[in-house]
Amino acid sequence: MSRSAERVLVTDHVFGDLEAERAALAAIGARLEEAPATDPESLAAAAAGAAAMLVCFAQVPERVVDAAADGGCRIIARYGIGVDNVAVEAATRRGVQVTNVPDYCLDEVADHAMALLLASARGVVVAANGVREGGWTVPQEGIHRLEGRRLALIGVGRIGRRVANRARAFGYEVVAYDPYQEGGAASVEEAVAEADAVSLHAPLTDDTRHIIGEATLSAMKRRPVLVNTSRGGLVDLEAVTRALDDGRLGAVALDVTEPEPLPAGHPLRTHPRAIVTPHMSFYSAEAQAELQRRAVEEVVRALTGEPPRCPVNRLDGVPA
Ligand SMILES: NC(=O)c1ccc[n+]([C@@H]2O[C@H](COP(=O)([O-])OP(=O)(O)OC[C@H]3O[C@@H](n4cnc5c(N)ncnc54)[C@H](O)[C@@H]3O)[C@@H](O)[C@H]2O)c1
Repeated sequence: MSRSAERVLVTDHVFGDLEAERAALAAIGARLEEAPATDPESLAAAAAGAAAMLVCFAQVPERVVDAAADGGCRIIARYGIGVDNVAVEAATRRGVQVTNVPDYCLDEVADHAMALLLASARGVVVAANGVREGGWTVPQEGIHRLEGRRLALIGVGRIGRRVANRARAFGYEVVAYDPYQEGGAASVEEAVAEADAVSLHAPLTDDTRHIIGEATLSAMKRRPVLVNTSRGGLVDLEAVTRALDDGRLGAVALDVTEPEPLPAGHPLRTHPRAIVTPHMSFYSAEAQAELQRRAVEEVVRALTGEPPRCPVNRLDGVPA
């Protein structure tokens, strides 16, 4: 059953357009509205009275969830995999369904992590920039054969496992730290100690915030390349910048930073041993189309009384 003219709030997005969402919502008599701003006050005002919310990177704290729930919001659908920007516990308390799209860009992120790892290990960006500037210089240090080098993965879920398979094909020995999976290292420090490269694939939680900080950086003995395609909050960026400068890290390659965008003038934007991409690992034309379609389909299901495909929280008191 559809309820006519229900309003669906899109807090923010990074897509070319929202035509897929508009069409899917129009088919059930709902209409899409874009939030004018993403600060909590504006979002709380915009969320009041919305039947559903679609959220990309905007922060949706408890205050916004409460405003949405007070106005009868039934679902907060995240455009993406991680739900660290949504106050999920508050949503559960208020009976608001949270969904994500856990299955849309797994190969893209794994490919991007490998692209960053290989570009760093092979010195591609510095060399190509040199050619652009008119030079033609073969590097004389810092590049080693990949075969037999060790890659430490922090988090080996859907994406981490794909990175492991890709890295093994390049000759890496893969070690892992993931407290929720069988086997692997007993601690992050143990995993990274003898690693030549470290790639992060854990969600951002209270346990993983700054999992790469002074302690872990000081445990790294082999000047590894640090790759982050997961969430900026996993990394203490100041500590990483220091470690890059004092030689504990050989290179960093980040698709995600905290904050995003990385501020203009931040030293990592121009550091010769850093590569930073603009939170784009998820992106391919195919993945983005799947993401937009699967996220709005959750909203359509919620507004027409169907159960969600990918619930993040359970509303019957049992954790998902
Ligand atoms: N840059 C991008 O565009 C982009 C796109 C998609 C996903 N991501 C990020 O990638 C992350 C991983 O995605 P996924 O699909 O592999 O998720 P997943 O849930 O399949 O895997 C995450 C893994 O991390 C592990 N983990 C949890 N806590 C940990 C801890 N304290 N230490 C080490 N490991 C821990 C889990 O046990 C799990 O195996 C997402 O949470 C998301 O933040 C980024």
